[in-house]
Amino acid sequence: MSVFALCFQFIETMTSSLQQIMASTGNGLDYDKEQELKTFDDTKAGVKGLVDSGIQSVPKFFVASSEETCNEKSDLRHTHFNVPIIDLRDIDKDGARCEIVKEIGIASSTWGFFQVVNHDIPQDITDEVIESIRRFNEQPNHVKEKFYSRDKMKKVRFNSNFDLYKARFANWRDTLSCLMAPNPPPPEEYPEACREILLKFSKYVTKLGQDLFKLLSEALGLNSNHLTNMGCADGHVFYCHYYPACPERNLTLGHTKHRDPDFLTILLQNQIGGLQVLHDNHWVNIPPVEGALVVNVGELLQVISNDKFKAAEHRVLANCAGPRLSVACFFTTHFEPSEKLFSPIEELLSDDSPPLYRGTTVKGYIDFFASAGLPAYSSLTRLRL
Ligand code: OGA
Ligand code: NI
Repeated sequence: MSVFALCFQFIETMTSSLQQIMASTGNGLDYDKEQELKTFDDTKAGVKGLVDSGIQSVPKFFVASSEETCNEKSDLRHTHFNVPIIDLRDIDKDGARCEIVKEIGIASSTWGFFQVVNHDIPQDITDEVIESIRRFNEQPNHVKEKFYSRDKMKKVRFNSNFDLYKARFANWRDTLSCLMAPNPPPPEEYPEACREILLKFSKYVTKLGQDLFKLLSEALGLNSNHLTNMGCADGHVFYCHYYPACPERNLTLGHTKHRDPDFLTILLQNQIGGLQVLHDNHWVNIPPVEGALVVNVGELLQVISNDKFKAAEHRVLANCAGPRLSVACFFTTHFEPSEKLFSPIEELLSDDSPPLYRGTTVKGYIDFFASAGLPAYSSLTRLRL
């Protein structure tokens, strides 16, 4: 079949699926959410498919409670809150390193979030990563849909809302996830639109991750190799998000509030904005800063640091501008079938600081996280002693 015929067929299918989805945006009594979700999922075109078909309102299954979307807690009196921005330029100079370690320690224990600048990943690389994710999402659907899957074992997969059938409401977002290490798939399995640049970016992120785990170890008062020796930097997965512009942005979210179920996340975002962290009971914007990467503590690091570092709740607002693009690099090894248990680090324990968590395997932890839809109770609570 020619590309034109395929496109035509796709538009026809989308139009009829959309008519069904739009018909259900009213509050008809015969609303069948499960069926709506399936119709949407079967298009394999994600939220971008809805937007491309000219949808002017948000289908009902995306609509969140006002409690979930409310912005009350980000009132103007708290605009003085700012996520720390840490300059890594002089990490190899003794005096400066000491200062950086201190700043990272404070940011990780109070915010659970910080941004880094002068991190040694060239701007042309990060720009190209963002462009490649745009390219992947904006190519014809017949190319993209080959990657569409809900199989958790797939090392490369594309879908809209990993928790579509479990979440209380769907998010205005599509995601391509790629396992990069360890045991990556053969390179041909990554989408051509972003293959080369993701492999390059992965090398840079590995190095930055190792540097950050050293600084975090030192901030905990441990030998600088402690966290890497435990295996925190052994693996990473890219979650490449595409948040289309949203016609009714106050009704839904780009990403429901959550904590990341990994050791550490390094996040690259484009210039649209919308990411927020819950700090001191207030939603605080994490604005895009030219050349910066966002870093946040994951729940597994909170467990092994015995609450010295905090995994903070964060979310992404839906936006009238778009698309917002981001690549979240999760340091995790959940694709590995390891039985290794992660529990609070011995050196951090004392009579005054007894262990707060039971040990967990990385895979067990993420499986529990994925078994519920967002917003979920923190999986941390389950491990709490
Ligand atoms: C995530 C996440 C935020 C973003 O992938 O866990 O929080 O800005 N992403 O896309
Ligand atoms: Ni997150």
